[in-house]
Amino acid sequence: MDGTADWRDLGAVEQLARAPLQQLSVDGKLIALSYQDGKFGALSGVCNHVGGPLGQGRLDGEYVVCPWHGWKYHCRDGCGEPGYEAESVPRYLLKIESGRVSIDLNSVTRRHRLPHPPLPLARPVADRDGPLRVLGISTTSMNKRNPRYSTSEALLIEALHHAEAAGAETQLQRLTELKFRACEGYYSKSARACTWPCSITQMDEHDQLTPVYEAFVHWADVVLVATPIRWGAASSLYYKMVERMNCIQNQITIANRVLLRNKVVALIITGGQDGIQAVAGQMLGFFAEVGCVFPQFPYIAHSRGWSAEDMEQNVRFVQESDELRAGAHQLVERSLATAAALRLANGTGERVQRGGRKADGLETKDSDQAAAAGVAPPRDNHAGVIP
Ligand code: FES
Repeated sequence: MDGTADWRDLGAVEQLARAPLQQLSVDGKLIALSYQDGKFGALSGVCNHVGGPLGQGRLDGEYVVCPWHGWKYHCRDGCGEPGYEAESVPRYLLKIESGRVSIDLNSVTRRHRLPHPPLPLARPVADRDGPLRVLGISTTSMNKRNPRYSTSEALLIEALHHAEAAGAETQLQRLTELKFRACEGYYSKSARACTWPCSITQMDEHDQLTPVYEAFVHWADVVLVATPIRWGAASSLYYKMVERMNCIQNQITIANRVLLRNKVVALIITGGQDGIQAVAGQMLGFFAEVGCVFPQFPYIAHSRGWSAEDMEQNVRFVQESDELRAGAHQLVERSLATAAALRLANGTGERVQRGGRKADGLETKDSDQAAAAGVAPPRDNHAGVIP
C-alpha cells in the first residue's frame, strides 16, 4: 500500500449483489467479493492455507468459508474466525458511486499467518540404514471383542515372524484397530487441495491413520499387505486406506516429489471364493502408481474356488497348509532380497524423478495466484476447520 488509490470498476451494484460470494479477477488479482446484510466486502481470493479460491466458497454468517478445507475469514475485515483472528487475508476498500461498485487495489492490508509447526510426517524422507524393516498391514475387518481367525492376517504374521528370524525389524498395523476417516475427496476439488500430509491428518488430531503413513513412507523397506477377498475385491478397509494414500501419489503431480523410493510391496490374498487375479491386479496397479517396486512373484494367495461355501474348511485348510506357510516365508524372503539389492544400488532418499503422465505440471491461474501470494505448503493443525 503506497498511499495512492488505484480504483477499478467492478460492475453494477444490482448485478454484483445477486451473489452472496463470488471470485473475481481484477487486473490479475483474485478477489473474494461478498454481499451480506446489504454490505459488500472484498478480500484476497487466495486462502492462507494452501491457496484455496475463497470466492468460490460460501458464506457462514459473516465468514467466508474456504471451499477446500473450510478455513474461515471475516467477509469484510479478512480476520480469521474467533480464536484465530490473526490468521488473516488481505482486504480491500470498496466504494459505491452512481450505482456501481469500485475497488481500490492499492488499499490492501497485509496477509498474516499464524505459525503452524509442520507435522512430523512432513519431514524429508531420510535414507534408511541398519536392519531391513518390514511393515505388515492387515486390512481385514473384524469385531475386536469377538475376534475370528483371519487367514490373510495369519499368513501375514507368519511372514513377519520369518522376517524377524532373518534379522529384519517388523511391525504390524491392523487397520481394524485404527479409527480413521474416509477420504473426503479434496483432490476432486483441485489437485492442490489434496495435501501431504493428508488434509484430514492435518486438521483432525484424532484421526489414526498417521502410524500407517509414518511406517509406510518413512520407516519400511518392505510392506506386506494382507487382504481377504470380499465380493471379488480387496477388503473395504484396504480401499479406505488407499483412498487416503492419494496424497502420497499426488505429491508427484503437484510438487514433483516422490515420497516412496525403493519401497518393496508384496501381497497376501485369501478368500473362500475366487477373484485372486482381479484383487492382485488392482492392488499392484495402485502400489505401482505411488512408486513402489515388487519382488519377482509379488503375491501369494489362496482360494478354494467359486463353489466353496464351507468356510470352516477354508480356515482349517489354511491353518494346516505347510505349503501356504512356506509360501509366506518365501514371499518375505524375495521381498527382503529385493529391498537389500535396492538399498545397495540406490539408497533410499528423495531423489527420484517423476515420470509418465505424472510428469505433467499443473498450469492453472489459481495456482499461479497462490504461488504469487506466497501461500505456504500444507502444515496446519488448525482446530475447527472441518465444517
Ligand atoms: S486452502 Fe483454504 S482451507 Fe485449505
